Amino acid sequence: MNSVDTTPDHSLVIAVDGTSGSGKSSTSRGVADRLGLRYLDTGAMFRAMTWWLLREGVDVRDAGAVAAVAGRPRIESGTDPLAPTITIDGEDVSVEIRSEEVNAAVSPVSAVPEVRARLLDLQREAIGAGGIVVEGRDIGSVVWPQAEVKVYLSADPDARAARRAAEEGGSDLASTQESLLERDRIDSGRATAPLTMAEGAVHVDSTHLTLVEVIDRIVALATEVQAEVQAGAREGA
Ligand code: DC
Repeated sequence: MNSVDTTPDHSLVIAVDGTSGSGKSSTSRGVADRLGLRYLDTGAMFRAMTWWLLREGVDVRDAGAVAAVAGRPRIESGTDPLAPTITIDGEDVSVEIRSEEVNAAVSPVSAVPEVRARLLDLQREAIGAGGIVVEGRDIGSVVWPQAEVKVYLSADPDARAARRAAEEGGSDLASTQESLLERDRIDSGRATAPLTMAEGAVHVDSTHLTLVEVIDRIVALATEVQAEVQAGAREGA
């Protein structure tokens, strides 16, 4: 049995931040599955908001126009690591949010403070009492700085582009890499909650590791941290 004993309140929160294509999603889902935790993909929430703005005909480069409507759509995340879902106003957009149009527009939308504030509330609500792996860009720094385990996942641009292109069914490598680097630039440079390595985060470079090796590392880390927390609780009792 792989489950971490998180009694009494199953409160473990594992924050996995990192750049696009560093393997965050597969890793986070794998870790959540192994440890019997829920899973939250915060990137999917930004993508769903972006998809909705595009469908509503809002100019996504106009921060004022985006801010004015950011409170409108209802966004819900399903947190089963084996079958995560994302709906907006009740419509499942899991497939639509991975389109090229959304890829190109999501970083500017994510830089709008009103969008971040709206989604921050939803993210904290979803984390609730914990027992969850949360992936994103600012989880360990802004959304849940008190997370017991913080991981910063990175990989070389070549490896990231190759993985993304394979995921997207063999799309062009050079343009995939260009699009990833452009998103990195905006995500790292924005004024509100930029992508950064959070204080206390463990850096895992996945360039030369298999998915299973990365998952093993994080599961080991979580098990270690949990044992420390439980020993501390016993001492304090
Ligand atoms: O992880 P992803 O590629 O699905 O994320 C899509 C975009 O969402 C990413 O370019 C930046 C934004 N994002 C963010 O700003 N903060 C998060 N916590 C998660 C994603």
